[in-house]
This record gives sequence, C-alpha cells and structure tokens, in this order.
Amino acid sequence: MNQRSRLMTRVLCSCFAALLLVLASAAPAWAQYALPPLPYPAEALEPAIDATTMTIHHDRHHAAYVANLNGQIKANPQLAKLSLDDLQGQISRFPLAVRNNGGGHWNHTQFWAVMAPAGEGGAPSPELLAAIEASFGSLETMQTRFSQAAAARFGSGWAWLIRTEDGGLAVTSTANQDNPLMDLPEIERGTPLLGLDVWEHAYYLNYQNRRPDYITAWWDLVNWNEVNRRYAAAAA
Ligand SMILES: [Fe+2]
Repeated sequence: MNQRSRLMTRVLCSCFAALLLVLASAAPAWAQYALPPLPYPAEALEPAIDATTMTIHHDRHHAAYVANLNGQIKANPQLAKLSLDDLQGQISRFPLAVRNNGGGHWNHTQFWAVMAPAGEGGAPSPELLAAIEASFGSLETMQTRFSQAAAARFGSGWAWLIRTEDGGLAVTSTANQDNPLMDLPEIERGTPLLGLDVWEHAYYLNYQNRRPDYITAWWDLVNWNEVNRRYAAAAA
C-alpha cells in the first residue's frame, strides 16, 4: 500500500468513526430499557418449545415490547427514573401502553429465566418444597392447580406461582401482559416465583389449539434453580 492509499484509508476510518459518533449521539436519550439475550440457544428447549417459536417470541415479540416501552418514555418522562421492577408496582399511574409494554418486558424477562433445557433445571429446594407443601399439600397439587389456571385463562395471559404478603404461596392468573406485581385492583398481588406465558404466540406453531399439551410439556423446562433463588429472595 503506497502512502496515498494509507492516507485515504486513514481519512476513511476517521470519517467512519465520526459518523458512528454522530449516530450514537443522535440516538434518543430516553432509550432506557434493553432486550436481554436468551440465556440459552433458541433450540435448547426443543422438543417442548421449538427454535422458530423461541426466536420469533424473543426477537420480535419481546423486542417489540421493549421498543414500544422505550417509545413511551418521551411522553412519560418519569419512566426514565424507574427500574423495570419498580415500574410494575406503580403501573396504575401510567397509560395503558406502558402497562401493556412494561408488563410484556417484565413478564418475558422472567419467562426466559425460569426455563432451562430439559434435565438442567434442578429441583425445588427443601425450603421451597416445604412452602409448596404448606400451601398446597404437595408439589403435584400445586402443578395441577397451576396447569388448570394456565389452561383456563381465556384469551391471552399468564399463569403464576406467587409468594403472597402473608408468606404463603398461591397460584393465580393475569390477563394480557399484567402480572402480580402491578398495583391494579383486579390483580391478586404477590411476588412472582414462576410465570408461564399462555399467549398463542408462545406455542401456536407447534401446538396450534392444544394449549394443555404445551403446558404439560413446559413443566419439563422449569428452571427450579431460578425459582428457588426467587423464593429465597422474596422470603428474605
Ligand atoms: Fe409471550
């Protein structure tokens, strides 16, 4: 490379760096919330959940909730001062678009975390198991009630295992992208330990209208290690 080419290369690199700087500074300052990566490859949950469903669910649906939530920050600047967790407990102060997209972001972030490839999710800790048995009688009974809540949710929503304020555990269900942290009158509130997405986008490619089959298969994916961690944090 002669001197002229080296000079040209240097000029081009400088221009490219300057362009990047301009683009970065032009990005909206209120773009606060970020899409977390999946904690495993998209195909890691097969055959219970296929890779295409996981990819579309994470890269398009969850990404859209994040983008739409960030799009609300300009009109609701107090959002910029709230963590995603804190937002849930104050959601009644905000318009419906924040509720739907803020809930969607929180719910899906927990959803990826409470799943693991089959055989890698561990088992309920002795402490969690004792709490489940105290509230439901047995792990199997809790799972049956949870599955019933998930199957019975009309339309789109979520099923949850929560720790309630009195320290007990309960199974509940929310519509759309609501969750048990939200300060809304129709919500049975508590700390979510485990949440299952029963929107059709979570299962329709593989299961079509057979939501109960999806729910049954999903239990093999539960990341009990993460549920244990959430229970310990909630009980602390
Ligand atoms: Fe979803």
